[in-house]
Amino acid sequence: MNINNIVESVINRASVFKNRSVLDRSYVPERLPHRDRQLALLAELFKPTVTSPGSISITALLVGDIGVGKTVTAYVFGRELVKVAEKKGIELRYIHVNCHSARTLYGVVQSIAAALSLSIPFRGLSPREMMLIVLNHMKKHNLHALITLDEFNYFVQVAGNDAVYFLIRLYDEYPEAEKRLHYILITRSLEVLGSLDPATESYITKHIIKFDPYKTEELFDILKQRRDLAFYENTVDDEILKYIAETEGYDKGGRGNARAAIEILLRAGIIADYEGSPYIKIEHVRKAIGEIREELLVDISDNLQFLQLHELMVLKAIIRKLRSSGEGYIKIGEAEEEYSYLCNILKIKPRKHTQVYEYIRNLKNMGIINAKISGKGFRGRTTLISIPVPLDPLEKRVDELIDKRLVEKEVNTI
Ligand SMILES: Nc1ncnc2c1ncn2[C@@H]1O[C@H](COP(=O)(O)OP(=O)(O)OP(=O)(O)O)[C@@H](O)[C@H]1O
Ligand SMILES: [Mg+2]
Repeated sequence: MNINNIVESVINRASVFKNRSVLDRSYVPERLPHRDRQLALLAELFKPTVTSPGSISITALLVGDIGVGKTVTAYVFGRELVKVAEKKGIELRYIHVNCHSARTLYGVVQSIAAALSLSIPFRGLSPREMMLIVLNHMKKHNLHALITLDEFNYFVQVAGNDAVYFLIRLYDEYPEAEKRLHYILITRSLEVLGSLDPATESYITKHIIKFDPYKTEELFDILKQRRDLAFYENTVDDEILKYIAETEGYDKGGRGNARAAIEILLRAGIIADYEGSPYIKIEHVRKAIGEIREELLVDISDNLQFLQLHELMVLKAIIRKLRSSGEGYIKIGEAEEEYSYLCNILKIKPRKHTQVYEYIRNLKNMGIINAKISGKGFRGRTTLISIPVPLDPLEKRVDELIDKRLVEKEVNTI
């Protein structure tokens, strides 16, 4: 194939994606599954901004671990609050400032001014002078603003106590002024706030809204919303979403990180396209997880060297069975069957049932496999086994080690 053909055939190749941008980090969904409570709390808190504008200034603090929807909830709330204000004839602006990039007082005030399309030559002005210009402008045009300071911890760290005081407690100095500025502050942890003076810290932490890590079922709903928008019908099965949700679900030992879950779905789709598959397979998901968490395959490969021959054989059996089934999980009994079959081929005597289960428990404890008890849908209860990394490179490594162990065995019997 010449170069033109390669490019053209790749571009014209069918894709599982209908609208990939839905999986972009910057995409803000219409609805947020499982964040109703946080949205309702925010609405309750910021109610006065639209019922009695100018009366008080409000500050909320959103706290939660990585990827639990703090940023997106602020965006959605801002969008909705602006709509409500509009209906009431109030001009409220939503301004989102990321303090990772604007971490000085100057930077933050400048971002606010820019968001209000203020084109004043700010050069040479102090942040305080700039802020006065902003406030005058807002008064003149009767504007109100809800300002989110995302990754607020950076601002605290770099700009320090006085800057925080100036920005958030501005109205302490001007008690007569109309209160046109309101804040949503976002941080992963409260730790850094300890460096503020106690009065400012307690002012900021008065209204904390907590974001817990997502549970498996919640991630499933979030993934489902994206799947329906991003992919063509029948290209991503519910089972695929369930599998991804389980790898990140907080209740399953994951971090409860929605960003990671969405990223896995995106990459699995890209891999499916790359391999010319009309739908996403479990192996695509394993590869996607492997790409995102490269250290996982490395860790697992490192651990393999401590395994004995029969443990390696059991692992190989699991890999083979997972591959041939095309499912995310296999039953423990299936693994044992395959193990016996492999022993037969290599003409070695298989270990007893209880010993095999012991090996499987060991593999689980070493983080090489995942095991869970089957829920509904299976007759009786059984242990289900999965492997979080791509099967091919793992099996290659396992095969090498099996060969090595077999040679060692030969040598020992001479
Ligand atoms: N409830 C939800 N419904 C739909 N999408 C969600 C939900 N929660 C999070 N997401 C999506 O997951 C990703 C991560 O969310 P977000 O960026 O808001 O996390 P965060 O809490 O701000 O994380 P960080 O601390 O890393 O900044 C985003 O793409 C966001 O759109
Ligand atoms: Mg964020």
